[in-house]
Amino acid sequence: MKQIQVITNGVPAEINAAAQDLAQTGKDSLAKLVNGNGEGNDFLGWVKLPSETDAALLDDINKTAANLRDLCDVVVAIGIGGSYLGAKAVIEALSNSFAAYAPSNTPKVLFAGQNIGEDYLAELQDFLHGKKFGIIVISKSGTTTEPAIAFRVLREQLEKELGREEANKRIVAITDAARGALRTLADTEGYKTYVIPDNVGGRFSVLTPVGLLPIAVAGFDIHALVAGAKAMVQGTLSGECNAAMTYALTRNALYRNGKKIEILVNFNPKLHFFGEWWKQLYGESEGKDGKGIYPAAVDFTTDLHSMGQWIQEGERTIFETVVSVANADRELRIPFEESNLDGLNYIAGKRIDEVNKMAELGTRIAHIDGGVPNIQLVIPRLDEDSLGALIYFFEAACGISGYILGVNPFNQPGVEAYKKNMFALLEKPGYEEATAAIRAKL
Ligand code: PA5
Repeated sequence: MKQIQVITNGVPAEINAAAQDLAQTGKDSLAKLVNGNGEGNDFLGWVKLPSETDAALLDDINKTAANLRDLCDVVVAIGIGGSYLGAKAVIEALSNSFAAYAPSNTPKVLFAGQNIGEDYLAELQDFLHGKKFGIIVISKSGTTTEPAIAFRVLREQLEKELGREEANKRIVAITDAARGALRTLADTEGYKTYVIPDNVGGRFSVLTPVGLLPIAVAGFDIHALVAGAKAMVQGTLSGECNAAMTYALTRNALYRNGKKIEILVNFNPKLHFFGEWWKQLYGESEGKDGKGIYPAAVDFTTDLHSMGQWIQEGERTIFETVVSVANADRELRIPFEESNLDGLNYIAGKRIDEVNKMAELGTRIAHIDGGVPNIQLVIPRLDEDSLGALIYFFEAACGISGYILGVNPFNQPGVEAYKKNMFALLEKPGYEEATAAIRAKL
């Protein structure tokens, strides 16, 4: 498939051979995704989602986005985890790096509900005060505490500033079709709503309205994003495109060989949040039953000046997966300077991206020489088409990889533990016993 190339020549030959030994397990794992007979099979809605997404839904999302853009200068997308990271990752990857500081006709998309920072929310309130703002509130369960708090606070502000009727026109809720407090509230208040399909888990939901509406509000082409993903679906599921399979097999072979940590590397600062999205996808899907590769992410060359030392010479339990962007969008060359006091004339006339590519190659070679196996994923450029393909590639590889590992990649039972303690400490009704038990521990 032209959108994603997976290069494993930075991995030792014996690991590539071990990956081939896993090929049958990989095929069986892919078959579980296609036939829906593996663990967690009630959450496989994402598998064919890009092919099954109706153009009419995308048009409707674009219409809602246009309406919010007309009414608002700022749109706050409220959500956490899978209800936040996908939209944030795509918007950051496609946006001008300085869009936040520049005047624009496109509303700024800000995020809330992804933390419980009092200062964060208070400062956001200050920023929104007197501005034309709207809210996209996203929660599949409709009951998650972090977004519920942010929504309560910002909804009150919007209603105070505009009155409830006008406020309600600027609120869109994305949630379950029938269940949860957010569904009840949305129906009572008459908000425009979109449904998160029952069979799509949060971390696989970026190509549903969860990701698509904020991305459309930010001015990006959601038809192209979904088309990019769709182009990967058939080839991946039929086995004709083996990119996701190669990645899944190789990382599992590395894990079995003692490489317990995978570091996702980018050489383009716009991909920082793509790393955050990927960490959630793989961390929540694989980290269970005492197993799982620990997903970490770095931004190079920035982090070569912090984490570079550890990666080069620390404990040899790591491997790297580099997302390489083949083409920069802009062209900027290093100027020649007569005095050459900084000694840079040897690269005068070269594009900055050429220097970046040599930093990338030099780093890959140095890390491979230092005992850090390297998988390279090449995408043509940072655009909607490539990002859609990359999203589907990682989702498919995650499903295959989780089944190879022998876990249910589609649940996240461990996420409940902190919530139970928090509710007990906050004395939530119904948690009386847990409150007594946790107090006894303090
Ligand atoms: O992947 C997941 O399921 C989670 O990370 C959820 O997306 C996250 O906990 C938010 O849940 P909700 O959308 O129900 O508020």
